[in-house]
Amino acid sequence: MPETSLIDFHGLPALRILAPDGAQAIVTLLGGHVASWIPAGGTEQLYLSERSAFEAGKAIRGGVPVIFPRFGTEPEAAQAPRHGFARLVPWTAGATRTGSDFALGTVRLESSAQTQGYWPGAFSLELTVCVAGSRLDMELEVTNSGADAYRFTAALHTYLNVAEVEDTRVEGLRGRQYRDQTAGGELRDERHDAVVVGDEVDRVYFDAPSSVLVRCGRRNVHVEQSGFSDLVVWNPWEAKCASLADMPANGFRHMLCTEAARVGNPIRLAPGEQWVGRQSLTALTLP
Ligand code: BG6
Repeated sequence: MPETSLIDFHGLPALRILAPDGAQAIVTLLGGHVASWIPAGGTEQLYLSERSAFEAGKAIRGGVPVIFPRFGTEPEAAQAPRHGFARLVPWTAGATRTGSDFALGTVRLESSAQTQGYWPGAFSLELTVCVAGSRLDMELEVTNSGADAYRFTAALHTYLNVAEVEDTRVEGLRGRQYRDQTAGGELRDERHDAVVVGDEVDRVYFDAPSSVLVRCGRRNVHVEQSGFSDLVVWNPWEAKCASLADMPANGFRHMLCTEAARVGNPIRLAPGEQWVGRQSLTALTLP
């Protein structure tokens, strides 16, 4: 019986979640970060830059960074750094479970003197990662463990591994309004059946559908979400990629971020309240 175990991943402790059918995910304790996902009988589905720092205080470039309590430079939790601090600090390993056709693992982050150096909120975060067959499920649970209410934004900043970004399409967003972050935050309506990337793309789609399809040749990924009301589509393209020290020059060609996000409608949690957001990816190979 395969077993979920603690491994070393680029010098970082990580949970290797392994299902009986061979599906596996690797979650580093730094950032509670899903760094790899290989479906049963499949190949790596997440982009991971080999130039990532893999050290505390720096975000891993690729995989699924957990963005909390601040997406980008949103006004909520404004003391926190851009894209929050959950991706910068060590989490702890929680419960793991293996069934006949799945395996899951949890990682946790509790507020501490370190996190309160970034932002005063008291919280408990739990990320549950489950692999089964061709599917990866990620669930982020946030509990307000303090005495004061607060508001925050969040995301699962998923970097999909694509063969060639120019041949990739994101389908299902037609008719949705988006904030174009490459055009000073202008609001636009999506008029196309598919988002294609031939330049920098940095868009927050508000009130996103519960699922989109990312097509790249015969390899496709079905992306579903709940709790997260928005979907961010991001590719830095050539110039911005060159300015990112932790990306190889051609890295932008092999990644596309489809981020389950909660940006337009921040979450408010009163003391003791909880919020849950989920993203699921299913790898599909078309005939
Ligand atoms: C995306 C943002 O979510 O993350 C982009 O919409 C940003 O604006 C990108 O450039 C990467 O951010 P970072 O902080 O990981 O370099």
